[in-house]
Amino acid sequence: MPDPTPPAVSMETLVALCKRRGFIFPSSEIYGGINGFFDYGPLGVELKKNIRDCWWSDMVRRRDDVVGIETSIIMHPKVWEASGHVAGFADPMVDCKSSKQRFRADQLFFAPVVVEGQVIGYVSALETERTAAELQEAAEALKRKKAVQGKLAAVEPRDMTEAKPEEIALIPSPATGEPGSLTPPRAFNMMFQTNVGAMTDASSVAYLRPETAQGMFADFKSVFDTGRVKVPFGIAQIGKSFRNEITPRNFIFRSREFEQMEMEYFIHEDADWAQVHREWINWCTDWLRSIGLPDSHLSEYNHPKEKLAFYSRGTTDIMFRYPFGVQELWGIAARGAYDLTQHEKASGVPQAIFDETTKKKFIPHVIEPAVGVDRIFLAVLCAAYAEEDVKDDKGNVEKRVVLRLSPRIAPVKVAVLPLLKNKPELVARARDLHKRLQRRYAVFYDESGAIGRRYRRQDEIGTPWCVTIDFETIEKDGSFTLRERDSMQQRRIQEAELFALLDEQVF
Ligand code: GAP
Repeated sequence: MPDPTPPAVSMETLVALCKRRGFIFPSSEIYGGINGFFDYGPLGVELKKNIRDCWWSDMVRRRDDVVGIETSIIMHPKVWEASGHVAGFADPMVDCKSSKQRFRADQLFFAPVVVEGQVIGYVSALETERTAAELQEAAEALKRKKAVQGKLAAVEPRDMTEAKPEEIALIPSPATGEPGSLTPPRAFNMMFQTNVGAMTDASSVAYLRPETAQGMFADFKSVFDTGRVKVPFGIAQIGKSFRNEITPRNFIFRSREFEQMEMEYFIHEDADWAQVHREWINWCTDWLRSIGLPDSHLSEYNHPKEKLAFYSRGTTDIMFRYPFGVQELWGIAARGAYDLTQHEKASGVPQAIFDETTKKKFIPHVIEPAVGVDRIFLAVLCAAYAEEDVKDDKGNVEKRVVLRLSPRIAPVKVAVLPLLKNKPELVARARDLHKRLQRRYAVFYDESGAIGRRYRRQDEIGTPWCVTIDFETIEKDGSFTLRERDSMQQRRIQEAELFALLDEQVF
């Protein structure tokens, strides 16, 4: 299990590890990459699949009240009109006319520079952990540059959505440092458009889905009528979503193509929604713990009432302490009956169901836990990464990089290592064990290099166990050495015991 408080790791270190060990590459890298898109390499794809599989078994297979579906990425464009995405799925953006750069208005901060009650100019900075400090430093620099005497007031940062029209021309662009080139914020719809069929006119416009959730709403009646379900019950889906983010950033945290795991939990209109909401927040937090995220990195954020969408009764985000700050990992929203009501109105197909007790029809209300696979991926890497000083065989101190991934999600569960590669009987036994393990688990066979080096290679990719086939295995009782990643302790183990251990820890 991971340390209660894992050491802080920089994004640079993580990105380098992901590249070096084949977890994640920039998409189309040979052409210079494409901003906001990533490829998962051989180890990354296994880790990601394990995250999905854990969620699916815990959310769908191990629950009696949740069923799964898989809906198409391109849906009827009316879905997105009814859901409000065509009109409202927009981020405010600001352009810099000089540099041609585009910024999200709520991530571009500015402040008037006030000396002895007089505004002497404006400073700006993009959102980081140090935004306020950067603005203060810039304010001091501006005061020096303008050679203004007197006491500088502490800056009061605001973002560009809060800028008054008369301020916009005075705020310097973060790209050029000069005022006069920023535009007022404009709504920028984040849905990717495409055309369906041979015609490319307005009638063929369609969208790549920006969330998987609408698939569950559009199919609600089909699932209800065929799925042998009754309220309360949930419909879950895992799949790709696409958003033309203005500023994709922080590696896979905010990208333009990503994967979501969403579940719509339909409850009675009279149900105690706040209690069900709380239960799902707790469920999601426990699930994150079960895949190795420590409490020290998790927190909750309740969206203030005045910032909620008009239909929303409450939204709580489970936050994770990433290297770039505490950010949303999992949103759990109480959406009322908004979505099904909208689809009923737009499609003309009734969405109400019959309540046997009250003999009345009602449109179910919804609690929606929605999370991104890629954000979980990044969170588990951040929490798992550690560097330690350890002694090698000769007693020299060396650095060990270790990913303390939970066995549930580690991309490789066991590495099988023959002690020597030039002893056919060791190699044969190791290959034989490897083959049998492979039927059930992702395993790795490695015979090259000193045994200590082979252990280190596995530590760096988070393999929880290594087994070494040595002479005792062949000459004595068939047992082999089991080496544990986190404690680095070694003990003898029989094959049946190894399978039992894996069965217990991996699923
Ligand atoms: N159906 C509700 C919905 O989609 P959201 O808060 O926009 O809500 C849910 O997205 C989750 O999807 C987020 O909590 C986050 O984990 C993930 N997510 C959203 N935008 C993302 C992006 N651009 N890149 C990676 N993950 C993203």
